[in-house]
Amino acid sequence: MTTASAPGKVILCGEHAVVYGQPAIALPLLDIRATAVVEAAPAGSGIICAMPDVDEQSTFAPTEAHPLATLLRLTLARLGVAAALDLRITLRSAIPIASGMGSGAALGAALVKALATHFDVPLSVADISTLVYESERFFHGTPSGIDNTVVSYEQAIWFMRGQPDAERSSLPTITPIEVGRPFTLVIADTGVRAPTHVTVGAVRERWQAAPQEFDALFAEIGRLVGEIRAYIAAGRIVELGQALNHNQALLREIGVSSPELEQLIAAAHAAGALGAKLSGGGGGGIMLALVEATSQAAVVRALVEAGAVRVLQTVVT
Ligand code: PMV
Repeated sequence: MTTASAPGKVILCGEHAVVYGQPAIALPLLDIRATAVVEAAPAGSGIICAMPDVDEQSTFAPTEAHPLATLLRLTLARLGVAAALDLRITLRSAIPIASGMGSGAALGAALVKALATHFDVPLSVADISTLVYESERFFHGTPSGIDNTVVSYEQAIWFMRGQPDAERSSLPTITPIEVGRPFTLVIADTGVRAPTHVTVGAVRERWQAAPQEFDALFAEIGRLVGEIRAYIAAGRIVELGQALNHNQALLREIGVSSPELEQLIAAAHAAGALGAKLSGGGGGGIMLALVEATSQAAVVRALVEAGAVRVLQTVVT
């Protein structure tokens, strides 16, 4: 039996502007993970993947049109292993599904790692990331690549998208960032599901209606992301909090905040958070708050009282 795991992720800053060529910073959630267990199954049973967290009965076979089934096929081919095997694979995840926390990519990375270990074929982190990207691309068109990268490398990253479709195509810029002093984030889920492609589409319409205004907002976010990187490297937590607040003000202007997000952000501020903003697509989904040890418990309590359906805590190192 072989077990492997991969972390969830959050976007710290730069969401939406990143679609227009500005940088973003993404962080692994090292203590909130997806796990894959691979074990031999009775002869003739084939390959069955179970996902008991999704639903006790939820299983899929490698032949199905499912992102993880596709990844399973791609990985077995990459490992040079025949698909006609008898294996039981169990995928579990503590990462909320469809919440912008990278659960799909983390399950994928855990699956690839567990299979590589099980069959004793070494894969580099870049190989793992590429396999997960390939399977996501198959289903989501041209994902930016931020999720597979951060969950495979398990490092805070600076990310700028490449131009996969352009005449002069280019790869994304992915650079690990330096964390000068560990800091703590509290992450809260509004419980409102807002698919990323919907908010991204709404922003595109607004940008088309007022390109100069929106380009200026995106550029200002890009500038802030550069400042945030420097504050993280220098361990300047107070300035980091102020910059996150500024990023939220710009996201509000872009029109991707929501009453539920604003309620949680206000509650986090009132309880002493150093900074708070939405994370990911917005319109619902999750927010994050930067806290000190002295305010952490109060912020968690305030978020629950303000209606968060789930509150997670993580230390960024
Ligand atoms: O909601 P998430 O974590 O998938 O993040 C979406 C981030 C956006 O910048 C809004 C879209 C994108 O493709 O980068």
